[in-house]
Amino acid sequence: MFTNQLALDATTAQRLIEIALTPVPDLPLREAMLYAVRGGKGLRAFLVLEGARLHDVGDRAGHAAAAIEALHAYSLVHDDLPAMDDDDLRRGQPTVHRKWDEATAILVGDALQSLAFELVCTPGSGVTDSARATLALTLAQAAGAQGMVLGQALDIAAESGPPLTLDQITTLQAGKTGALITWACCAGPRIVQADELPLKTYGDALGLAFQIADDILDVTGDATAVGKAVGKDAAAGKATFVSLLGLEGAQRRAVDLVDTACDALDCYGRHADTLKDAARFVIARDK
Ligand code: IPE
Ligand code: IPE
Ligand code: MG
Ligand code: MG
Ligand code: MG
Repeated sequence: MFTNQLALDATTAQRLIEIALTPVPDLPLREAMLYAVRGGKGLRAFLVLEGARLHDVGDRAGHAAAAIEALHAYSLVHDDLPAMDDDDLRRGQPTVHRKWDEATAILVGDALQSLAFELVCTPGSGVTDSARATLALTLAQAAGAQGMVLGQALDIAAESGPPLTLDQITTLQAGKTGALITWACCAGPRIVQADELPLKTYGDALGLAFQIADDILDVTGDATAVGKAVGKDAAAGKATFVSLLGLEGAQRRAVDLVDTACDALDCYGRHADTLKDAARFVIARDK
């Protein structure tokens, strides 16, 4: 049930991105943007649409779902650049700078970030002007120097600094991964100005659990299944929950976070079962 919904929601976001890119000239930039948004799990689109379903706005949240997938794809293209994590493989395919070149990858990231804001602001999507402004403002905060980019800066700085404390690693991960995941969870209630606290609590815990699972997969995962290189975090001196707590400690922390995430949704009763399944999937996944 959950995996079927994930695949459907990933496709919804993908189609809206493809439609939005129709007017773009048929240059390598456009081809590389489409390449960068394909092949992901679509978890963030699913979180937007599922949070929206809980508030009966599922059909009005498509553009927000597409926006977060575009923004996430930009973050990955830049994360893989030689100046960042220097990765050759993403989603089982050569990274954008490997398939094309660094200039193209930088521009693809720039354009995907702009596209995300274009999507979230698109009129005619059934979302009021004021809700679209709120979505754009909160997306900017989640993506920028108090959110994802902050986390990425702390991540790179930690490679050459002293080991981080648990609080510092939590702040880093909450930025680099958590901010976009929490934004995705809160988009639905934001569209109808409903209380976003239960989904925010869920998203904050889920984001951390998600990054712990990513860090564990870097140690225990199989590169072919994961679709990206493994064993790189320790080699690069990355600050992760695994580097601080060890594999078992990190696994226990992830399980506790999933419990916190699920408990936060009890107010939605059975309607939240799919999101609870998603939280359990996040730490059981092999890619
Ligand atoms: C990878 O995210 C980057 C992290 C934040 C850990 P995903 O594992 O969701 O990547 P895709 O979109 O499925 O490829
Ligand atoms: C990247 O974290 C998070 C963002 C792209 C913001 P990682 O560097 O751990 O992600 P992977 O392992 O390359 O997917
Ligand atoms: Mg990184
Ligand atoms: Mg990386
Ligand atoms: Mg990683």
